[in-house]
Amino acid sequence: ALCNPKDKIIVNRDCHQSVINSCILADIEPIYILSKIDKETNIQEGIDIEESKKIIDNNLDAKAILLTYPTYYGKTFELKEICDYAHKHNIAVIVDEAHGAHLGLSDRLPKTALEEGADIVIQSTHKTLPSFTQSSMIHIKGDRVDRQRLSTMLRIIESSSPSYILMSSLELAVDIYETKGNELMEELLDNIEQFKEKNKNTSFDIYNEDDKTKLFLSSKKLGMTGYELEDLLREKYNIQVELANYYGVLLICTIGNTKEDLDKLSEALEDMSNRYKKDSYIECLEYPVVIPEKALNPREAFYKNKKSVKIYESIGQICAEYVIPYPPGVSLLSPGEVITKEIIDYVILCHKKGMNINGIKDLNLEFIEIISD
Ligand SMILES: Cc1ncc(COP(=O)(O)O)c(C=O)c1O
Repeated sequence: ALCNPKDKIIVNRDCHQSVINSCILADIEPIYILSKIDKETNIQEGIDIEESKKIIDNNLDAKAILLTYPTYYGKTFELKEICDYAHKHNIAVIVDEAHGAHLGLSDRLPKTALEEGADIVIQSTHKTLPSFTQSSMIHIKGDRVDRQRLSTMLRIIESSSPSYILMSSLELAVDIYETKGNELMEELLDNIEQFKEKNKNTSFDIYNEDDKTKLFLSSKKLGMTGYELEDLLREKYNIQVELANYYGVLLICTIGNTKEDLDKLSEALEDMSNRYKKDSYIECLEYPVVIPEKALNPREAFYKNKKSVKIYESIGQICAEYVIPYPPGVSLLSPGEVITKEIIDYVILCHKKGMNINGIKDLNLEFIEIISD
C-alpha cells in the first residue's frame, strides 16, 4: 500500500516471513536492519536505534520502514525515536505488532505502537486477546497512508467471502477489552509478579521482559534443552508452552489465564527441580548474526529456474528457498541471498540438536535449492 514496484522498504532482519512474501508479490526491495539476539537465551531483542538511523540515512529514498515491536519474546525499543526520525525524512512507519495487541491494557506494559507514532499497525488479535485464530486487525493513524489504496491492496490479497465467525470474535474481543480488559490485565500482572517471587530459587532462570506477560524459562541449570522441557511440561504436567528454543521455553500469559494456571506452573517447576535435574551441560550455539550478501531481490529470485544440490555444494551459490530455524522463526537465508558456510554449519548443528528448520524442502537437510540460471 505504500510502495510501488522497485521501491525500497527498510525492515528488521528478523521480520516475519510474510514481509518477504509481500516483497516478492509487489517487487519491493527489502533493506535489512540487523536485529540483536541474546546469546545466552536466543531471545530476540529488537533493533538498535543508532544502527537503524544510519540505515535510514543511507536509504532516504525508502518509502517505509517496517519494524516488529514488541518481539516474540516481549522485548521493546525506543520506537518513538525511530518514528520521529523516519517521519522527519518523509518515511512512513509500519509496525508489526503481532505480539502486542494487549499492550494498551495497562500502564505497566510498554506503550503501544500507535502511541509511539506508527502510521500503520498490524496486530494478531488472536495471539494475545480473546479472539479466534486468524483474526487480526490493522490500525491506521494520521494522513501519511492513503486509506483507499490500502483497501484496494487488501481486496487483492483477501478472500471476497469474509468470515462472520471471525469478525464476530473480534467484536467480542473488543468488548472484553473495553469492559473488563484493564481489570483482568492488572490481576494477571499481579499474578505474574507473585509467580516470579515464588520461583526465584528454583532451577529455572526466569526472564520477564519489557512486556511482562511474556515469561521465558531457561532450562540450562536443569541440564535440559528447551525442547526437553517443553515435552516434560506437556506430557507430565499438562502445560502447553508457546514455543521452545534450545535454551528454554516461552510462555505467553493472557487475560484468559487465572492464578490457578500460574500456581500449576509453579508446582510443575518445583517438582521438576527436584526430580529431573541432569548433569548434562547445555552448550552455547553461536547464532550467526550476519546478513548474507544479496545477489537478487526476493522477486527476481522467486521466478528464476532452480535446482537442488547437496547442501555443502551450495556454498557461494544463490539460495532459492528460505532457511528458517524455528524458533525464533527468523530467516537466515531468503531467496536471492548468497549461501555461506557459517550459516550452513549452524543450520546443520541446529537440526542435529532437534530444532525445526522451516522453509527448506528437504527435511533431512541433505539438499538445498539454488538458482540455476
Ligand atoms: C512477528 C510476527 N508477525 C506476523 C505474524 C503472522 O501473524 P498471523 O499468524 O496472525 O498471520 C507472526 C506469527 O504468526 C509473527 O510472529
